[in-house]
Amino acid sequence: MKKVLEQDFVLANGVRIPKLGFGTWQIPEGEIAYQSVLFALKHGYRHIDTAHAYENEKSVGKAIRDSAIPREEIFVTTKLPSHIKDYEGAKNHLAQSLANLDIGYIDLYLIHAPWPWSNIGQDCRAGNGEVWRYFEEAYEAGLVRSIGVSNFNVADLENIFAHAKIRPMVNQIAYFIGYTEDDITKFCQDNNVLVEGYSPLATGRILNNPEIQKMADKYRVTLPQLCIRYLLEHNVLPLPKSTHENYIIENSQLDFKILAQDLAYLDQLHDTVTKWN
Ligand SMILES: NC(=O)c1ccc[n+]([C@@H]2O[C@H](COP(=O)([O-])OP(=O)(O)OC[C@H]3O[C@@H](n4cnc5c(N)ncnc54)[C@H](OP(=O)(O)O)[C@@H]3O)[C@@H](O)[C@H]2O)c1
Repeated sequence: MKKVLEQDFVLANGVRIPKLGFGTWQIPEGEIAYQSVLFALKHGYRHIDTAHAYENEKSVGKAIRDSAIPREEIFVTTKLPSHIKDYEGAKNHLAQSLANLDIGYIDLYLIHAPWPWSNIGQDCRAGNGEVWRYFEEAYEAGLVRSIGVSNFNVADLENIFAHAKIRPMVNQIAYFIGYTEDDITKFCQDNNVLVEGYSPLATGRILNNPEIQKMADKYRVTLPQLCIRYLLEHNVLPLPKSTHENYIIENSQLDFKILAQDLAYLDQLHDTVTKWN
């Protein structure tokens, strides 16, 4: 059996995507982003998740270029800013991300959210349809190897499905013990849309949870390892983030199984773990 770090999921278009991704939100552009991505690559991660909005694409790209790992062995995701909802804007921003990263092509390009972060819930159905039309063109032109969405609920996805020639291959959503968005996850998995789980450690808010700690002790793993493994048990691709080399290593050591009865216990920890927001 291969280690998790060496395993892949396969997207609807046949593209392989490493099962563990490295998140880079809130990692400052410059030395910290550069070193963090280099640590991740040095310790076997082959999947890096960034976004235009994280303002660290240049350092992420430089670390990838300097790593001496062949480009085709690394899977790189970036995202169109959430407020861009028109064809020309999508085109301009993809060009910017390609220039910032400077790694030739992007493996996965996502619409960061169905609405601007400044106006969550705004009806952007028409805009998302227009943006998706450009995503399909960029995919067909080979600028990106796969395309998808993030923070989309079932209705947002159905809106894209209604007009799409090419369906989203990924939906990246918040997913951690106690916050699992089961309706969206089921809809995606039933429709062959890979679910990626962001904030598997609830951006740090889960780290002191006594119930999860107790379960981690039972498995002789750390709490972060149990939390990240939990996503894999649900066929959700985890994207943990850290700037510390020891945490980056720890978060990749996931070669254990959570028993069904323990998974069921963790599944029902809704609201008791941590509130989202
Ligand atoms: N699509 C979206 O809208 C969206 C939204 C949020 C996140 N994301 C993606 O998902 C990624 C992960 O989510 P996230 O950034 O919210 O954070 P996360 O992975 O849930 O948690 C990161 C926090 O946990 C700490 N940490 C990590 N490993 C640890 C360990 N082994 N022991 C102790 N502490 C540890 C980190 O500390 P240090 O950094 O100090 O080491 C950081 O404070 C993001 O970076 C981004 O790529 C996407």
